[in-house]
Amino acid sequence: MPRGRDLAGADPAPHPRRGRPALRHRPAARHRRQHQPRPLPRSRPQRTGSGALPAPPDHHLPARTLRGGPRGVHHPPLPARVRSQDHPPRPHPDRSSPHRSEPVTAVEPETAVEITVDGAAVEAHPGEMLIEACERSGTYIPRFCYHSRMSPVGMCRMCLVEVDTGRGFALQPSCMVPVSEGMKVSTESEVTKKAQDGVLEFLLINHPLDCPVCDKGGECPLQDQTMAYGPGETRFVEEKRHFAKPIAISETVYLDRERCILCDRCTRFADEVAGDALIHFMGRGNHTEVNTFPDEPFASYFSGNTVQICPVGALTAAPYRFKARPWDLTETLSTAWVDSLGARVAVQASRNRVLRVLGADADAVNWGWLTDKERFGFEALNSAERLAAPMLRDTADGGVSEWSEAGWGEALDRIAGAVGAAPPERVAVLGGARLNNEAQYMWAKLAKGVIGTDNVDAQLGDGLDPAVVLGLPRATIDDACRSGGTVVLIGPDPKEELGTLYLRLRHAVINDGAKLVEITPVATGLSHLAQHSLRPRPGTTAQLVSALVAAVAGDEFEAGSTGVDRSELEAAAQCLAGADDGVTAVLGRASLAEGAEVVEAAAIELSALPLVRFLPALRRGNVIGALETGLAPELLPGRVRLDGVEDGGPRVEAWPRLPAAAGLDAAGVLRAAARGDIDVLVLVGADPLN
Ligand code: SF4
Ligand code: FES
Repeated sequence: MPRGRDLAGADPAPHPRRGRPALRHRPAARHRRQHQPRPLPRSRPQRTGSGALPAPPDHHLPARTLRGGPRGVHHPPLPARVRSQDHPPRPHPDRSSPHRSEPVTAVEPETAVEITVDGAAVEAHPGEMLIEACERSGTYIPRFCYHSRMSPVGMCRMCLVEVDTGRGFALQPSCMVPVSEGMKVSTESEVTKKAQDGVLEFLLINHPLDCPVCDKGGECPLQDQTMAYGPGETRFVEEKRHFAKPIAISETVYLDRERCILCDRCTRFADEVAGDALIHFMGRGNHTEVNTFPDEPFASYFSGNTVQICPVGALTAAPYRFKARPWDLTETLSTAWVDSLGARVAVQASRNRVLRVLGADADAVNWGWLTDKERFGFEALNSAERLAAPMLRDTADGGVSEWSEAGWGEALDRIAGAVGAAPPERVAVLGGARLNNEAQYMWAKLAKGVIGTDNVDAQLGDGLDPAVVLGLPRATIDDACRSGGTVVLIGPDPKEELGTLYLRLRHAVINDGAKLVEITPVATGLSHLAQHSLRPRPGTTAQLVSALVAAVAGDEFEAGSTGVDRSELEAAAQCLAGADDGVTAVLGRASLAEGAEVVEAAAIELSALPLVRFLPALRRGNVIGALETGLAPELLPGRVRLDGVEDGGPRVEAWPRLPAAAGLDAAGVLRAAARGDIDVLVLVGADPLN
């Protein structure tokens, strides 16, 4: 219980003399309700021929006396309730999952379950939740707490529909009810509509209705669903609940507890998806609130996802607060550039300025989740320190002048002059791993096919040999995270460096029975979930993998020098031997303290396992694209080696020239530059010293 709360005192003790009432059924709610149900109008009043609205019909809610106000003073009658045909349900008011890029899978006819939704026959997956089956068939059921990427909790009751499973229709939360053969569902009945009215009216009792100043306004599921499914008015005239607000629960996330509808999405995400249960419900009843633990911030690498999935404006992101309205934003689907996993993002901008990045729900990649680096890293784009125009300085006469702004024409002339005056082997191009494939190809063609230098490297010394990355059988994220799969992790801590993969692997291990074998020098964010964690001594990863492969094959092995216990190794080998559909290896460098050749040797040893595939875990956005397009020494586009091009081949004809000799990698280029052997160094969106 947080300090200072009303309920923080001793628990109430039972009354010493008052007995517990005998157990009996509670009277049905309708006998105890203050307001007797009355028919509600379902259509907007039509204007008469003169343009005037007709007189209000005689079905206003009863006027109420203000509590604490002068006796006998009545409110004027509330306006008639409007809804239904006037506000037909929108297909997807929930903007929390802005893009599902893949179509929902078709139902296999032989396993399909047939249900009836609003009189129409619908085929559903066995065990599928009713809310999903209805949505797939085109019937959207309103919801707040339900999220297709998290387990259902039935917190908000907004998805109540009438369901008949053979014992007559009764209201049931469709997010908690799995479909069953012959089930009948009514999402449009008067009882369903009345339940939705009631839920929304209750949710709005304590909601501040500050939509004009709320960042969620215009993309708020509560706002949208109140319009589409709500009663159109409130009978609540009492004072609303008040909390101090907003609270900065982390550097980037602000909490407004008054707006919270206690849907459990943020707390569920933190606990279930990210594994950082740093926010939780506290208090009871009317005082229930979402909050962090006392004096502990919401220090999660994934905190921004809670802002995106919050169905109201209770959680807002500091970089976007009060910056724009959704209708002011233009949106472009793109790919995150922080790591090489390629999370799908929606980049939203206004007046040529990026204001927000949201996760896009791509089944094959990130399921809509992003790390905070991916979500908030866009602020660097708007940094005042970024170059906005070409800058030039002179180094003539042994001195260096100040930087001065120049036009593009002058800058390009100077660059062309410098590059043209230098022999090709004294020109180098580093970087380009965060560009898209087309731009990478153009840089490779410019450097190798026009300038004629092979001193080209996109990886900056923190990656792996292109021959290993391109030559080993490739796995996708879905391969690595498939149900019941087996994953070998030789690489960095996914939680620190590969956030998307961390979330997917975590889900696969916890929910889908995937097995994880770690071969890392130190514990990672997934160690507590790993089936086996092997910790080789520095530099012995390849020996350990060699011993592991021998143990899987039932051969003799020796692993003494690796520091790993023989029994641990045998247990891990048994796990790999049981992987009938093959092993997926996540391959990267755990740290830069160890040379790339250690990991490369381990990969080659591991490739002896049957059906093994590799998911490269590299540090920059599009390293694979850079290697495929030839941004590496001794490599040309299409995985062609420089020394493998024959005279007159297609590559030679397409490009004006080719480098005369193999070039240097990033470390070699920097060493050569320090010796004075490089005259022109082109950095393509990269800082090799950082
Ligand atoms: S803060 Fe938002 S996501 Fe969290 S419980 Fe409240 S309404 Fe739901
Ligand atoms: S969406 Fe079903 S109870 Fe909330």
